[in-house]
Amino acid sequence: MSLTIGVDIGGTKVLGGIVGPDGQVLAQARRPTPAHDPAGTLIMISDVISELTSIHEVDAIGVGAAGWIDAQRSKIMFAPNLAWRDEPLRDRIASRFDVPVVVENDANVAAWAEFRFGAARAASDSMVLYTVGTGIGSGIVLGGELIRGAHGVAAELGHVRVVPDGELCGCKRRGCLEQYASGSALVRYARATAKENPDKAERLLTLAGGMPEAITGPMVTAAGKDGDPAAIAAFEQVGYWLGNSMVDLVQVLDPQVIVIGGGVIDAGELLMAPVRASFRDSLEARGVLPVAEVKAAEMSNLAGVVGAADLARRH
Ligand code: BGC
Ligand code: NA
Ligand code: ZN
Repeated sequence: MSLTIGVDIGGTKVLGGIVGPDGQVLAQARRPTPAHDPAGTLIMISDVISELTSIHEVDAIGVGAAGWIDAQRSKIMFAPNLAWRDEPLRDRIASRFDVPVVVENDANVAAWAEFRFGAARAASDSMVLYTVGTGIGSGIVLGGELIRGAHGVAAELGHVRVVPDGELCGCKRRGCLEQYASGSALVRYARATAKENPDKAERLLTLAGGMPEAITGPMVTAAGKDGDPAAIAAFEQVGYWLGNSMVDLVQVLDPQVIVIGGGVIDAGELLMAPVRASFRDSLEARGVLPVAEVKAAEMSNLAGVVGAADLARRH
């Protein structure tokens, strides 16, 4: 059986896995991601791969990274939320291991995993994934192929402008979707309500030891599940912006399925219900036309690993 390694470089951890041809994960390894330290991160990536190659021989290595990858799938040109600038990641890894290496955008690999093995596996042709985490990532599959664009940086739906002259984004523009519908935006909304209307955020403030600034994403999810009004409102805001932006996407691509994933999807229906409502409401003008099914991701935290490994196998 042909085995490949997939590595998912996240903001907090580097997760790797040995993956079989049907997307099955046979072994996993993980290390923490050292913050703002590309050299240290490379060491962690190498450690993860070494640990896995000591278990099994593999044919190729795929790496998913949160940034703008060049058309050759080799360099991270820029990363809005990480310290990587012009990082020749593929060659740095390939010089340490004797197999082909492919570097791909983190959301692209996750989209590929959902298309092949996850929430969109029934789609024969097209799907779009939005990942809602620190940033907003996305991946687009059309005609059964991942869309990478002429320069490798297609499908950056998190940096589509939704508010003219809006919040400043890590990509240096203003008003990007990422500033309104990411996990970071979710936390910002929840903190603001906790400060201004603490009576609406009792559960949330209890979890945060009484300090609005100590509120984290998982706390918003936990409080939302307990019915905390501030947490629920924060999910509604995120869902509003996401659903709205999805309508613009549908006007351009008309995909079969839209999948919502990323860390924030742990919230389940707390996020999905407002996303679907906003999508449906803003779509009204389309009347009876058929439209994409909107689904929650199914590959959990292994989407990146499985997708990167599968793309490496096909490369
Ligand atoms: C970056 C994307 C990345 C996404 C999720 C965005 O800010 O521009 O390249 O896929 O965050 O990590
Ligand atoms: Na992408
Ligand atoms: Zn942006």
